[in-house]
Amino acid sequence: MRRLIAPLALLLASTACTTPGEAINERMAVPDAFARIAPILTTPEAVDTSTYAQPQVARVVHVALDLDLDFAAQRVDGTAMLDILAEPDAQEIVLDSKGLQIAAITDEAGRALDYTVGEEVTQGGKGAPLTIQLDGAKTLRIEYAAASDAAALQWLSPEQTEGGVHPFLFSQGQAILNRTWIPTQDSPGIRQTWEARITAPKPLDVVMSGVRQGEPEDLGNGRRAFRFVMDKPVPPYLIAIAAGDIDFAPIGPRTGVWAEPATLPRARAEVGDTEEMVEAAEALYGEYRWGRYDMIVLPPAFPYGGMENPVMTFLTPTFIAGDRSNNGLIAHELAHSWSGNLVTNAVWGDSWLNEGVTTYFENRIMEAVYGKKRAEQEAALMFASIRETLDEVGEDAPGTALSTDGEYELGSAVAYEKGAFFLMTVESIVGRERFDAWLRQWFDNHAFQPATSEMFYEDMMANLVRSEAEAERLMLREWIFEPGLPANVAKPDPAAFAEVDAAVRAYAASEAIPGDYADWTSAERQRFLDNIPKDRSAAQLAALNEALGLSSTGNNEELFLWLELALANRYEPAVPKAEAFLARVGRAKFVRPLFQTLWDQGDWGRPIAQRIYADTRSSYHSVTQAGVDRVLASE
Ligand code: BES
Ligand code: ZN
Repeated sequence: MRRLIAPLALLLASTACTTPGEAINERMAVPDAFARIAPILTTPEAVDTSTYAQPQVARVVHVALDLDLDFAAQRVDGTAMLDILAEPDAQEIVLDSKGLQIAAITDEAGRALDYTVGEEVTQGGKGAPLTIQLDGAKTLRIEYAAASDAAALQWLSPEQTEGGVHPFLFSQGQAILNRTWIPTQDSPGIRQTWEARITAPKPLDVVMSGVRQGEPEDLGNGRRAFRFVMDKPVPPYLIAIAAGDIDFAPIGPRTGVWAEPATLPRARAEVGDTEEMVEAAEALYGEYRWGRYDMIVLPPAFPYGGMENPVMTFLTPTFIAGDRSNNGLIAHELAHSWSGNLVTNAVWGDSWLNEGVTTYFENRIMEAVYGKKRAEQEAALMFASIRETLDEVGEDAPGTALSTDGEYELGSAVAYEKGAFFLMTVESIVGRERFDAWLRQWFDNHAFQPATSEMFYEDMMANLVRSEAEAERLMLREWIFEPGLPANVAKPDPAAFAEVDAAVRAYAASEAIPGDYADWTSAERQRFLDNIPKDRSAAQLAALNEALGLSSTGNNEELFLWLELALANRYEPAVPKAEAFLARVGRAKFVRPLFQTLWDQGDWGRPIAQRIYADTRSSYHSVTQAGVDRVLASE
């Protein structure tokens, strides 16, 4: 393939006219180029145990993919060219691979290079080391395929799409899944620029987490080729692809949304505040540095609410409620354009640096765009969620420290909500003005670089904290490195839900149905559903459902809370609705807890869970499958 960008040429300030091939050969002659490549952190706590790579010896700096999407075989097939930077005496480079079918590895001139694929670690998805003998090579060409079982990829049948006619493909790289379809060093601390040429059958469109280059090229064989470039070094988990029968609708000058034609109008209406959100985010923490901010609303099998793929956030359609009530999700994924994508956790045990900082930032965007009341209510829901987790696992459970050195734990309230409340607490102590100035310089000074908890702490000590007395009040190390919630936590304003909490008490006392439920915000309705007594008879559930229309809500967050409550009380009439929901939706945050709730119901729920899962498992992404498999294998 023709190379769209020469990574190292790009890194040279203004040598825009250099042709790619030359630039690569010039690399060694221009030592300055090295300075512009994102550094590798070498302190012990920055060493990623989820990669086989040894980036201090030899590292990938640029990936060029040339791949065909084969929907019939559910296979991705082609080549990856890797530009590498190696120590002068480096003999080999180690990449990550999980299940990749390697056909050949050569240097740029086509000279075969020796390689071995080591033994695959069966636990934890780490895969196997792919070790390549460099023999002086500066560029590697890997011919390979990713088969239908590649865990990052989900190939949807036409029936799993809204349109029902064409198949669909999407990828989910975070945390360590991209090694199942891209042979590179799959570690968040090893940033790489990338480009891609992707071919797909007509009439499918392809989008990626990079900037699409021009119009697709008709190849005359029923296929088209699409080209993409990401010229900023990103952690490789952010390389993402989606392909399907999709259309685009613009929002603002740099924002827009892709979705299936049948979904696009609803999607476009729901994300209508996105341009304002980008403006609000920039006003808070500095320029949006990625050019465009587009989104794609995927089919409901997508395993997450959202994924912050640069220039192309991936979204579940289940956030669409018709009233923009769930678009904290967009604020969240957008905020990752700073926390996560600009400044990235070097290791997954520090994922609070991505998710916690983002959850804080999300709440600030919500406040700026929708006002204090909505932000306070959403913060109060977050606080309830971290409280619930801590009550469940215990204040001193080691996994409740923000910085964990253990395995990456997915979806925990610790990284998200404890992380957010850490920053809210710091803000409340030093004041918003100082805090915002500090966070902005954190993003600026670490832009396009990896970071650790230790660096975050040091930076706060150096650039935020003014006195020893203030340091004592902040309790920074306790927040970051100790379990539980420190005593200085800035609790949410109890007034945020005063009315709802009174309604909860009235319902608990006398089953009084709140008359104005329909007028409440979604956050208020969620607060109510989450706090009413858990133990309900069938008659009580029927009355509640009848009065509040719970099973027919168009808001999936609320529907989920209703189904959980109903199934936890073995309420038969809710089973068909739960079954239909689980057959359509693959979002792990909904699917896993619903199966768990059924599973917890022993003789009543387990056969139902098994029956439903027998039908739905194959429609879920590997992430969701893994979560539910664990539930149904548990005691
Ligand atoms: N980056 C995460 C999704 C993720 C986390 C994927 C860990 C793989 C491993 C994304 O930004 C996220 O947090 N999504 C949430 C959004 C919510 C908190 C608003 C989700 O999917 O529910
Ligand atoms: Zn996130």
